[in-house]
Amino acid sequence: MKRPIAYFAGTGRCVPSNVMTNFDFAKIGIETTDQWIVERTGIKERHIATTESSTDLAGGAARAAMEKAGVHAGELDIIVLGTASPDRLLPSAAVDLQAALGASRAAAFDVGAACSGFIYGSTIAEAMIAGGNAETALVVGVEKLSAITDWTDRSTCVLFGDGAGAAVLKRSRQHRGILSAFLRSDGSLGDLLCRPAGGAAKPFSNDVLAERSQYIKMNGREVFKNAVRSMSEASTRALDAAKLTGADIDLMIPHQANIRIIEATAKHASIPMDKVYVNVDRYGNTSAASIPIALDEAIERGIVGEGATVLLVAFGAGFTWGSIVLRL
Ligand code: ACO
Repeated sequence: MKRPIAYFAGTGRCVPSNVMTNFDFAKIGIETTDQWIVERTGIKERHIATTESSTDLAGGAARAAMEKAGVHAGELDIIVLGTASPDRLLPSAAVDLQAALGASRAAAFDVGAACSGFIYGSTIAEAMIAGGNAETALVVGVEKLSAITDWTDRSTCVLFGDGAGAAVLKRSRQHRGILSAFLRSDGSLGDLLCRPAGGAAKPFSNDVLAERSQYIKMNGREVFKNAVRSMSEASTRALDAAKLTGADIDLMIPHQANIRIIEATAKHASIPMDKVYVNVDRYGNTSAASIPIALDEAIERGIVGEGATVLLVAFGAGFTWGSIVLRL
């Protein structure tokens, strides 16, 4: 096992206060039931932004993580931000966050890896610390998916939620930190989960708005199959690279998209469900934010603490997938 290069010095999260339950869909004319949503996904409620921007949520999570890490904004060398729902398309969400924090020394940039954004971002931050380009990094996953969700499409609008999670990574001085990481993607499957319009190929127009193609479109069944396969692969690859097995893991934190995907992934990794963190019932799928929100909650609740071995595993649009084995 390699000596860790970067460790998670502090984590934080921020979600909108407004909660939308499965029963609230009837109020907006969506034909669905609590039973259908719970049976297919495990989701009971999600936080939906009212006045909060993506930058507000990212800022809340970042400040909480920096406070726990004892780090000031001026000490950040890099800000790596994963999102699929930035406040604006140019400049990056990371520089908007940099301005909000006053992190004047940082190099700030976004990572486009959808739900895998936090895993990709943490791996990049570790590499930059290893390369001597940074000592202290802020990694954020933030989503305001409610802004890019088609609220007339019952097959997707019941799935998503808003929120942000963050971690401060610092150079390891002990045996705490990232033990292994695995990243992969397959762009040939990009159409299965995408926003078809609103980019340079098909800019916003009246036609786009009429066909609602600026919103997330998804082939749920194909996403489901690929998510199980890829998250299983990612779990195995990161465990193998760390020379560990499922039995060595104190807590698995999978991307929170769907309880059935989570259960299948845990089974493949031979990790019992009592060692798997689940909060998809309370947050829905918050994409890049889901893993850091769950990690922060698990630490706050005392489920894991310093010295614990944690497996983070994600899958998202792209497709992208990845995993990290972490000694807290
Ligand atoms: N309420 C009630 N009925 C619904 C709803 C709803 N909200 N949504 C769809 N249905 C209906 C469909 O219209 C369909 O009806 P029909 O048979 O009369 O045509 C029926 O339910 C079955 O639809 P399917 O899409 O085949 O349902 P499935 O069992 O595949 O479940 C789901 C759909 C939950 C989306 C599932 O495919 C899934 O979880 N996929 C993974 C998607 C995911 O998690 N994506 C997140 C983004 S990627 C990521 O984060 C990993």
